[in-house]
Amino acid sequence: MSYHIGAKDGEVAETVLLPGDPLRAQFIAENFLEDIYCYSKVRGMYGFSGVYQGKKVSVQGAGMGLPSTSIYVNELINFYRVKTIVRVGTCGSIHTDIGLGEKIIALGASTDSSVNRVKFNGQDFAPTADFDLLQKVNAVAGKIGMDILIGGIYSTDSFYLGNNDRWKVWSEHGVLGVEMESTALYTLAVAAKVRALSILMVSDNIITGKTASGEEREKGIREISKLALETIITE
Ligand code: HPA
Repeated sequence: MSYHIGAKDGEVAETVLLPGDPLRAQFIAENFLEDIYCYSKVRGMYGFSGVYQGKKVSVQGAGMGLPSTSIYVNELINFYRVKTIVRVGTCGSIHTDIGLGEKIIALGASTDSSVNRVKFNGQDFAPTADFDLLQKVNAVAGKIGMDILIGGIYSTDSFYLGNNDRWKVWSEHGVLGVEMESTALYTLAVAAKVRALSILMVSDNIITGKTASGEEREKGIREISKLALETIITE
């Protein structure tokens, strides 16, 4: 067992979907997987294993922000030898023409966090998605007729900073949305030769102030979960 995931050896699949919200992990397991088994309830951060179209898959909650995400990604990789991690989460749009419910595949994850600066001795690392998974998600989205946007996103350390202008420079540089996790996932995964991808749905628009209703969120989470699962079974 690891410090924060109460699974025994062999209980976590090689391929893991990683929502931030543990209740979303439960939702995905209950709605998409067969033969589900809850392998961890430590700190209420649920983890489930199950089967999707014959493939063993786990769904692990990882919390909010880079530090929490880093804990779960580290333990999945180092204790449970996970090989593929697909984050399924939400993000805020920083463009007026990217609306609620749209799907964003994070090609790269910029950040205002200093965590990588510390790691890279003051230099900037550009965390990117796994290219193989990126090609596959693009192909699957085309096949099932789901519109997706592929581009940079931004992982922030502060949900509430009070200064909405801080997004301007990022949107001017083509960054599509903001969330709080993918920089950590991409950085840890690449160093461990693990494949990672973040699939996000837009839950709010920072410029217009619009936020998705509970129903819209659930619909979006269903859609990106399906996209993630269909992507990982193409292996
Ligand atoms: N900011 C940061 N993280 C987020 C947001 C946001 O607006 N929406 C979903 N995750």
